[in-house]
Amino acid sequence: MSRQAEQAQQPGKVWLVGAGPGAADLLTLRAARLLAEADVVLHDALIGDDVLALAPQARLIAVGKRCGRHSTAQRFINQKIIHAARTHARVVRLKGGDPMLFGRAQEEMNALAAAGIEYEVVPGVTAASAASAQLKVSLTRRGIARSVALLTPRAGEGEHPSQALRANADTPTLALYMASHESMAIARELMSYGRGADTPVALVENASHPASREAFTTLQGLSEHTVGALLGCGDQAPEGPVLVMLGEVFRDEMQARTSSTSSESARCIQVSAA
Ligand SMILES: C[S@@+](CC[C@H](N)C(=O)[O-])C[C@H]1O[C@@H](n2cnc3c(N)ncnc32)[C@H](O)[C@@H]1O
Repeated sequence: MSRQAEQAQQPGKVWLVGAGPGAADLLTLRAARLLAEADVVLHDALIGDDVLALAPQARLIAVGKRCGRHSTAQRFINQKIIHAARTHARVVRLKGGDPMLFGRAQEEMNALAAAGIEYEVVPGVTAASAASAQLKVSLTRRGIARSVALLTPRAGEGEHPSQALRANADTPTLALYMASHESMAIARELMSYGRGADTPVALVENASHPASREAFTTLQGLSEHTVGALLGCGDQAPEGPVLVMLGEVFRDEMQARTSSTSSESARCIQVSAA
């Protein structure tokens, strides 16, 4: 009897696996092993081909959702995962970054538990870790920042407006996920809570990818320019995911890059990663 046929009697197992920020060699060894053994991989839209190539024997199913938007889309994804587990032995649900951060993992785990399907979670490198590594700036630099908040100002459909900015306005280092579209309003809001206009801001698009872009500005600069303009895309929104980070830990790097550019007034320094 084929492994699939056996599963008609007994559901398979699902692994919610963190794919990390993009670079395939930032996956954990466990993630790579599970991908190599998977029968089915249901993956987020932004997972690259080099990561998917680690699952040569698996059926690949793009579940397409970007930035955790629609609850209907999420219900549809839950159903697809459950269906895959009822028809296959080893199912990987591959999610960008770390599955437990801003990744709707709880809904998927709840749906699997309700369906009586066994699951495990494999952590991944989250965007804030990848972006700080790329910038070579510690988010909790001793003497400057004793705490860091990972947050999103975005509220889901039907949820109350997010209080995350207000609640974390004084946290020394902030890493803002899913914030690039509303960055100007976010900057104004943080300043209205007393965050200094000269607070350094770091933007990283596509952290860990070869085509990554970085820019530094201040909170005032972020309130006046779109993320696209700061990253050098003009009127266009950046194509890749962007992490907005801010805090005093970025000051030295911001000043070092500003002083190494020819324009004294440069607000935005664009650097390609290696
Ligand atoms: C739905 S959240 C998923 C976060 C993911 N679970 C993680 O741990 O990184 C998507 C947001 O994460 C951030 N992000 C994800 N990958 C990124 C990358 N490679 N570079 C910069 N930001 C990234 C962006 O802010 C993006 O809007």
